[in-house]
Amino acid sequence: MNRRKFVKIFAGTSGLFLTGASGLLQSCKSPAEAPIDPNQQNPLRIPTEIQGGILNAAYGSANVWRGPSSDVLTLNGLFTGPTVRVQKGDAFSILFTNALGEPSIIHWHGINAPSGMDGHPRSTIQSGAQFSYKLPIQQRAGTYWYHAHPDANTAKQVYKGFAGIFIIDDVEEAPLNLPSGKYDVPLLLQDKRQRSDNAVTYDPTEEDIISGFLGNVILANGTPNAYLSVEQTFYRFRLVNASNARVFKIGFSDGRSFQIIATDGGLLESPMDLTNFNLSPGERAEIIVNFSADPIGRSLKLASIAYDFNSSHRGSTFPQGLAMDILDCRVVRASATQSKSIPAKLTTLEKLSSPIRTRTFALTMDHSKPKGIHMINDLVFDLNRIDETVKQGDVELWEFQNTADAFHSMHVHGGQFQVSERLYAGPITPVDGGWKDTVLVYPNETVRVLVRFTDYKGLFLLHCHTLEHEDDGMMINVLVT
Ligand code: C2O
Ligand code: CU
Ligand code: CU
Repeated sequence: MNRRKFVKIFAGTSGLFLTGASGLLQSCKSPAEAPIDPNQQNPLRIPTEIQGGILNAAYGSANVWRGPSSDVLTLNGLFTGPTVRVQKGDAFSILFTNALGEPSIIHWHGINAPSGMDGHPRSTIQSGAQFSYKLPIQQRAGTYWYHAHPDANTAKQVYKGFAGIFIIDDVEEAPLNLPSGKYDVPLLLQDKRQRSDNAVTYDPTEEDIISGFLGNVILANGTPNAYLSVEQTFYRFRLVNASNARVFKIGFSDGRSFQIIATDGGLLESPMDLTNFNLSPGERAEIIVNFSADPIGRSLKLASIAYDFNSSHRGSTFPQGLAMDILDCRVVRASATQSKSIPAKLTTLEKLSSPIRTRTFALTMDHSKPKGIHMINDLVFDLNRIDETVKQGDVELWEFQNTADAFHSMHVHGGQFQVSERLYAGPITPVDGGWKDTVLVYPNETVRVLVRFTDYKGLFLLHCHTLEHEDDGMMINVLVT
């Protein structure tokens, strides 16, 4: 295909990003109606943005791949969920209506929420019931997310589609003039097992409970084989790993470098140049990609690139480390907006120090058991048992000791931490920087973090974000007093 023809074919699809909210909604709902392109790729769906209102969860169907529709879990009729977008200082409220036919509950991952609003599986919402979430948005700008969190049934609901991005904007970030509007691209990433009947089936084997349920394709905002028409300028990609178990190695097909500007809890102090980084389930990263030197007609892929992972729990069918494309970025035109570089200084972060207490968490596995194989300090999750009691405002050092040869990505509710040390698996990486709520603990590695629960007292959680491990019991209750 020559360049002129290429530009002509894809010029039509860029209208997707110029239409109003209703046009976007349609593009979310009916990818099958999008113009067919010769490469059998699909325009990246950009989820509708909501500020609150209603979130209705139901099992239903959606056109995910070409051909037969897929049985998925929809949120307000969408697969995957709408993007919540609010300002720091807002009073966020949303009415969750559970039409799933089974219990569920929403957790606002990374958001400091009062204990009763945080989505602890103790307060599950029964099928047919509603719950009104009210959260004052008090924390800094960043890319957070939300997902289902019912006891022992999180993995299936998230796999089927119960997940969405939650963006907070604030006045500290606004003057930095980071790419915005259509140049600010949310990317909720989930791997799926593609089947010939297009079904989205969650049927883990015993081996999948141990290695995690791993797929062979990555959907971005529910879009398989996604592409995005980009201009010759800077883009901000907000990457959310909403996979059950897949650890992505994020990079580009041409090996180009990009800048990481934010992690789980918002901006880093300065942008850092990278060519790739690992992103484990639950983690987020924001990157700036510069297309201004790319000729029109060039196409390059954002991908999860291959890596070695020698473990007895690497997943038998679609192992960790498998190369998979995420998003084909097609450079289609010059930019009307001035290419702008990213400020060298983004913010100043408070540094946690002088922990007053140390707690160790042994991440253990016992293969002799049929269930409850995965444990923290030899405990299998019990909804009603308090495992740790922490004082609000104290800085503590938490040490995650992974004695298994599997990945565990450790996540806390109700507090944030800073990664202070990685023993054995190498130095702290840029994606470990800034405020975090989830950290990847490599096989046989120990990670130390400094953690503080600042905003609320009450019952919160610490768990592995490999959802099969979480459902199997690798989770404990943390009471903040
Ligand atoms: Cu994103 Cu308790 O989880
Ligand atoms: Cu094991
Ligand atoms: Cu785990």
